[in-house]
Amino acid sequence: MLVLGIESSCDETAVALYDQRRGLVGHILHSQVAVHAKYGGVVPELASRDHIRKVIPLIGELLEDTDTKLSDLDGIAYTAGPGLLGALMVGAGFGRTLAWALGVPALAVHHMEAHLLAPLMDPARRPPLPFVALLVSGGHTQLVQVDAVGAYTLLGESLDDAAGEAFDKAAKMLGLGYPGGPAVAEAAQSGDPGRFSFPRPMTNRPGLDFSFSGLKTFTLNTIRQLEPLAEQDICDVARAFEDAVVDTLFIKCRRAVEQTGIPHLVMAGGVAANQVLRASLAERLEAQTYYPPPALCTDNGAMVAYAGLCRLQAGESAPLSIDTRARWPLTELTPP
Ligand code: KG4
Ligand code: ZN
Repeated sequence: MLVLGIESSCDETAVALYDQRRGLVGHILHSQVAVHAKYGGVVPELASRDHIRKVIPLIGELLEDTDTKLSDLDGIAYTAGPGLLGALMVGAGFGRTLAWALGVPALAVHHMEAHLLAPLMDPARRPPLPFVALLVSGGHTQLVQVDAVGAYTLLGESLDDAAGEAFDKAAKMLGLGYPGGPAVAEAAQSGDPGRFSFPRPMTNRPGLDFSFSGLKTFTLNTIRQLEPLAEQDICDVARAFEDAVVDTLFIKCRRAVEQTGIPHLVMAGGVAANQVLRASLAERLEAQTYYPPPALCTDNGAMVAYAGLCRLQAGESAPLSIDTRARWPLTELTPP
């Protein structure tokens, strides 16, 4: 069974082919970073327009590179939400129509389910069920208990900003540009870990929820006291900020593992590409940790194709209507 996956929920147009037997056959991605960089964040209308320009050429390139014909496809999976509505409609509209034209099932994929199933793509390092998932992206920070595909229990989530969003805002304050996560992580490498001590929000009370907006304010106040910022100040603040986010995520993950008694933790979403986070959880957590390669942590088509395949194998398919949802709680999903 061969599935084409299309991801267009935010600022990446990404397509991939995942085969039940061969695994990941190919994946390509067009990043819109250059389109949005001068605005310091994603401009929804520009994102939609760029997806329209790219989706067909990218699929053509993927099929050619992998020597695949449209008639080889057994299903078309597209991200149906959550995300930017106009952007979602491009991938969903194209994917649903292509599936109809080819007479194969369409799969309306939940973007966060795709992120959390991504570590299962590698058969050599597949986490056993049940596992705890830390979902950390630009729009979400959640701890989820995964009992099966589609059987998700929300253990905790951010009450305000997502971890990725906090990285992006810290980067903006430090003049490090967009997207912020990788830029802050790079600057932090040259930072002095002992110079500032940033708070670990909500770790001194019970529970598994997060809050990152106070950390953002703390970062801003620290910067104001230092201005004008020297190169080393930027690196030191970036280091203190990264350490605070990573430590906060670690403390909550440790709690989630203790509370559920499940010693397997999956990291997924763009922030899971962060090397300090990966190393910290792998070393300090009394659980086996799993994460996809960095390119499959941030938005990609492979995870959409794979999530689609999981549901297609169970006989699921989307109706002819094209339904996209800007907001779509993960816990509304059910097993296929
Ligand atoms: O999953 P993703 O690609 O898109 C969403 O679904 O949101 O996540 C993007 C987020 C951005 O906020 C970006 O700054 C963050 O992931 N990110 C990182 C790193 N790479 C991407 N954050 C910290 N360290 C990184 N290396
Ligand atoms: Zn994402």
